[in-house]
Amino acid sequence: MRNLTRWLGWLAASVLALAIVALVVVYAVSGWRMNRAYAVEPEPVAIPAATDSAAVARGRYIVQAITKCEDCHGQGLGGATFNDDLLLGRLIADNLTAGEGGVARDYTDADWVRAIRHGVSPSGKPLLFMPSLEYYPLSDADLGNLVAYVKSLPPVDNPDLPGNRVGPLGRFLFLSGQLDLLPAEKIDHDAPRPPVPAAGKTVDYGRYLATTGGCIGCHGPGFSGGKIPGAPPEIPPARNLTPDPETGLGNWTIADFEIALRTGKRPDGTQLSEFMPWKATAKMTDQDLEAVWLFLRSLPPKPVGGR
Ligand code: HEC
Ligand code: HEC
Repeated sequence: MRNLTRWLGWLAASVLALAIVALVVVYAVSGWRMNRAYAVEPEPVAIPAATDSAAVARGRYIVQAITKCEDCHGQGLGGATFNDDLLLGRLIADNLTAGEGGVARDYTDADWVRAIRHGVSPSGKPLLFMPSLEYYPLSDADLGNLVAYVKSLPPVDNPDLPGNRVGPLGRFLFLSGQLDLLPAEKIDHDAPRPPVPAAGKTVDYGRYLATTGGCIGCHGPGFSGGKIPGAPPEIPPARNLTPDPETGLGNWTIADFEIALRTGKRPDGTQLSEFMPWKATAKMTDQDLEAVWLFLRSLPPKPVGGR
């Protein structure tokens, strides 16, 4: 009996020791990746003056209807808590205005481009969870107008936002490739700029809007839906947007699609969760919604989660 007790004691101690070693390794490797410096000198983008009302209006449309910056940075882009729990961590989307604690106070035009397109802060550190991989294809014109709009916003004083902290589960999901914590790692910072399709009701322009509009971030790289990585359990899985007749949009018409993206109502009358940002897509123009529809129609039908 005494032998068994001693043996169990040893077993528990070894399991504990292994868990501690695993945790130390997870923290060391993820910490090293999060603290790596990126020397990114972005190509200059012309940023219109914040008094250029046409540029600012276009920028507002991009921010509110397409890139949805307010989803994370809060109304008026004054900063907001994106996630805060012990296991995943605390992620704060910064105050982007020129008020107290806001980044617009010290940002140069190059800093805006580096942060939005490359996911890298002015100090060279990779930004956590800021979806720059999706924003990377933004055209110079759209990006310039977007920044002009952000700069035109009234300053919000929000100086006391706490710092970021990535918890053990967040780090584990990141290291096992299930959480896109560091978009900067996935961007080829020296690649030539991707071609920009002309605006219009075309598949190519629809792909541009679906990418920069973040549909990929939730509906997956194959647009085929499934559980959203890192999302809490009460969030429903994202749906299959490919033309699969069983699980996707195969039996939808463009009118069904427009109603869903404008009002959050499915063809059967059921309501979409607000986690699907239909209040933002509601602001999309008819032309842009049709382009996204044409793009989704051009995809091969896939089962849920298919690439
Ligand atoms: C999915 C959530 C999310 C969305 C959408 C998002 N951001 Fe962010 N953003 C973040 C988080 C989180 C951080 C903080 C990253 C850090 O501190 O490491 C951040 C950081 C930034 C920073 C860097 C601030 C600094 O510390 O220097 C800028 C600039 C920025 N975001 C601009 C934007 C703009 C403009 C948009 C829309 C085009 C946008 N973000 C959309 C989550 C988001
Ligand atoms: C922040 C995550 C997120 C983003 C970004 C997002 N979606 Fe969704 N979407 C969801 C979730 C979650 C659902 C399922 C909601 C539910 O079941 O209540 C959904 C459902 C849908 C549906 C309903 C499909 C059906 O069969 O009921 C459509 C259509 C849709 N999304 C299109 C889009 C398009 C187009 C984009 C990009 C412009 C987009 N979504 C961006 C999370 C997202």
